[in-house]
Amino acid sequence: MTRRGEWAARQKIGYLMQQGVDHPDCLSLAAGLVDYSSLPVELVHTVMERILSDPARARAALQYGTTPGSMTFRHQIGEFLAELDETETRPDEVSADRILITTGSQQFLDLVSQAVFDPGDICLVTAPSYFVYLSTLEGIGVEMVAVACDDEGICPDALDERLRQIDEAGQLHRVKMLYLVSYFDNPRGITMTLERREQVLEVLIRWSDRQFIYLLEDAAYREIWFDDPPPPSILSLDRHKNRVIYTQTFSKSLSPGLRTAFGVLPQELVKPVTDLKSIHDFGSPHLNQFVIANLIETGEYARHVAEVRRSYRDKSEAMWRGLEDYILPLPETDARRPEGGLYVWLRCTAANCETNFDRRLFQTAVDHQKVMFVPGELFYSDPDDPDASRTMRLSFGVQPIDNLAKGVRRLGDALTEVGGFAESQT
Ligand SMILES: Cc1ncc(COP(=O)(O)O)c(C=O)c1O
Repeated sequence: MTRRGEWAARQKIGYLMQQGVDHPDCLSLAAGLVDYSSLPVELVHTVMERILSDPARARAALQYGTTPGSMTFRHQIGEFLAELDETETRPDEVSADRILITTGSQQFLDLVSQAVFDPGDICLVTAPSYFVYLSTLEGIGVEMVAVACDDEGICPDALDERLRQIDEAGQLHRVKMLYLVSYFDNPRGITMTLERREQVLEVLIRWSDRQFIYLLEDAAYREIWFDDPPPPSILSLDRHKNRVIYTQTFSKSLSPGLRTAFGVLPQELVKPVTDLKSIHDFGSPHLNQFVIANLIETGEYARHVAEVRRSYRDKSEAMWRGLEDYILPLPETDARRPEGGLYVWLRCTAANCETNFDRRLFQTAVDHQKVMFVPGELFYSDPDDPDASRTMRLSFGVQPIDNLAKGVRRLGDALTEVGGFAESQT
């Protein structure tokens, strides 16, 4: 096997997936897949028929598209973003020529990283952060430097301090980008407040005369809010339109199987990222772009997303009730009620309850109690971060609602068994 093949095989995500395959009887609170019952079967069927019954449109959809994606679709995305950011009065704020349609946001993250980083460069990430992106960075030889975050997102003072430390070490020239999941993040479910968004941009702008640092805003869960819509994007606060790179996906709000997402680039990155994409695939599936464009145009997309939100809100409630009943009464456990997204981030600091793959809790949960979670260690770029062994991610995404409390109860039993807590506490 090549070195790169060996590197891919070593990634912990592979181990986690294998655990799922090896333990089919396990109730998985680990998988980040979306809810089966809310996948838009009827809707996609109808829209496919609509497209294919018009021969001219069908032929256009079944032909190669262009590398950056259908122009009509990209214009529509510009308007869609303007509505999300409540900038309807300036619908062309993000012009179509800065928008790139990609095969999932994963592809956009990968292409942008290839365009921005050389091996040995530094990317600032939150601790914890979306683990697949950490692997992407590692794969291109980028050093990750972690910045602390709290319940409002990344801490601007900690960011400033990190930059100062890097500068003192004479390494500031290596810092090229800051990566943030700004809405209901993966894994913590946190949304950055508007104030934080502004402060973080301010810090980067302040450091600009020494080193220009991009901000990559990953808005994968932006539309999955439960009660109140979240604040505008950091992209919309970037007045010079040169610093923030933005990506949003249709995987969570519509269907991951369509593998369609988009990114917005500062003008100077449009050509390098598009060139990289054209070497990759000449453009993302054209037919799928027609499908989503049609769903947006008819208003069916907006109605579907409203239903998806209701469904995840109910599921998050079911998981939360399970946590209140079976886990949060245990000593030294803590979690935050989700306001959107697909995840609950659970912290347990009791002795013997380390969450790592090779500790007793994970093995007991999987082999004995038949429930699976994602150990916190996957989400930390620094394996020595003490939180890496005290946290875990639970997802209410894929399990049917009736399984959620059951899964959490099993996890409570695993914690009780390993932590040696008295049964009465559950
Ligand atoms: C934070 C985040 N970004 C990006 C992605 C990639 O999603 P996709 O490639 O399906 O658009 C995911 C998937 O779970 C995610 O959680």
